[in-house]
Amino acid sequence: MKLQSRETNRIQLRHSSRTRSTSSSSSSSTSNNAIEATKSIIPQNEASSPVEIASIEKFLDNIMKEKPIRFTPQQLTEFTNNYSIQLGSGGFGIAYRGSFPNGVPIAVKVLHKALNKRAEEQFMAEVATIGRTYHIHLVRLYGFCFDPTVKALVYEFMENGSLDYYLFSDNLRIEWATLYEIAIGTAKGIRYLHEECEQRIIHYDIKPGNVLLDKNFSPKVADFGLAKLCNRDVTHVTNTGGRGTPGYAAPEMWMPLPVTHKCDVYSFGMLLFEILGRRRNLNLGGNESQEWFPRWVWDKYENGELGSLALVCRIEQEGREKAERMSKLGLWCVQYKPEGRPSMGKVVRMLEGEEEIMAPPNPFEYMDLYAKELASSTGTMTTTSTISRGSTTSTKSIQV
Ligand SMILES: Nc1ncnc2c1ncn2[C@@H]1O[C@H](COP(=O)(O)OP(=O)(O)OP(=O)(O)O)[C@@H](O)[C@H]1O
Ligand SMILES: [Mg+2]
Repeated sequence: MKLQSRETNRIQLRHSSRTRSTSSSSSSSTSNNAIEATKSIIPQNEASSPVEIASIEKFLDNIMKEKPIRFTPQQLTEFTNNYSIQLGSGGFGIAYRGSFPNGVPIAVKVLHKALNKRAEEQFMAEVATIGRTYHIHLVRLYGFCFDPTVKALVYEFMENGSLDYYLFSDNLRIEWATLYEIAIGTAKGIRYLHEECEQRIIHYDIKPGNVLLDKNFSPKVADFGLAKLCNRDVTHVTNTGGRGTPGYAAPEMWMPLPVTHKCDVYSFGMLLFEILGRRRNLNLGGNESQEWFPRWVWDKYENGELGSLALVCRIEQEGREKAERMSKLGLWCVQYKPEGRPSMGKVVRMLEGEEEIMAPPNPFEYMDLYAKELASSTGTMTTTSTISRGSTTSTKSIQV
């Protein structure tokens, strides 16, 4: 069954790369756009020499093989109109808006100039992995620039930016039904990385800032910068150094424990809670019982009060069943032990209502145990919400 779906993907991929699509699917049109873009990047005239024709053929061939195009720093300066529009910045560089000469919009992510070894490794990993992956819920990498002066990645442009803007802003809102579809699409993108690529890809940094939205608010997972290819046969990837973002990173990411693809399931669970609450999971200074939202969801679930949770989250009656499903699934995804978390394939089925969601065990039990241990060894009680923040420690201690 899985083999069949993988093969279907490849067939669709070949189809979308080689034919001018008449379908409205955004993924096939971007592929064709890239071909058109490349045609106009390479100077063409009627008296082209055999050498020029050969190089055009090679470029088009590369696109068909899903190989990203290599651009020069001069081309990137032109595409971005001298880097005039900044989209935002992240841990490894600044993203700019731009367009190919034929008008196809792009996002150019320029990595910080003083590349340390880790950032350079990330760059190479990203080019190699994204260039070979293609799915309707993954951001497409068109090309890259690797030059002593400029290291950059050229992506398809996502008109509606990243999900965090909509979840955490008072002005921008997405209705609940669309948010639920965004959760499903994101889960499918991660499922593809985990289960349908030739080699499993672990993302390591699933969070709302890395879920981008196209003009129809269809989600695409971005930034495989932290992704490492790992063979299916290898069950564990050794974790060297901290990865991911605090608050979303699974416990094994910041503890000396083996890290597997289940770390993405944990981060996806945290993302589900943020979609549900349309707020950051950690919100110090508000209502104390709701400071750390995932814990509050557990408390509500344990007391059989998920209905009132939907009310607080301002989810209308018709969306309540989905809200309950999302709450229970979130609690499964953030289980402390990786083996207790479902696979992304299962996550998709449960979100879509195809598979029943059993009663989740308490995912935060370890925090209570940890807090008790800490209290007995130091004479202080540590509130559980602090542990949830992962590697960032802002500890609230109460003398006992
Ligand atoms: N392909 C794209 N299309 C449209 N906007 C984009 C695109 N890529 C990035 N952006 C915008 O630029 C911002 C910065 O992206 P960037 O990936 O550099 O940082 P980040 O996602 O916040 O952090 P991280 O470095 O952990 O990924 C994003 O929040 C998003 O709004
Ligand atoms: Mg990002």
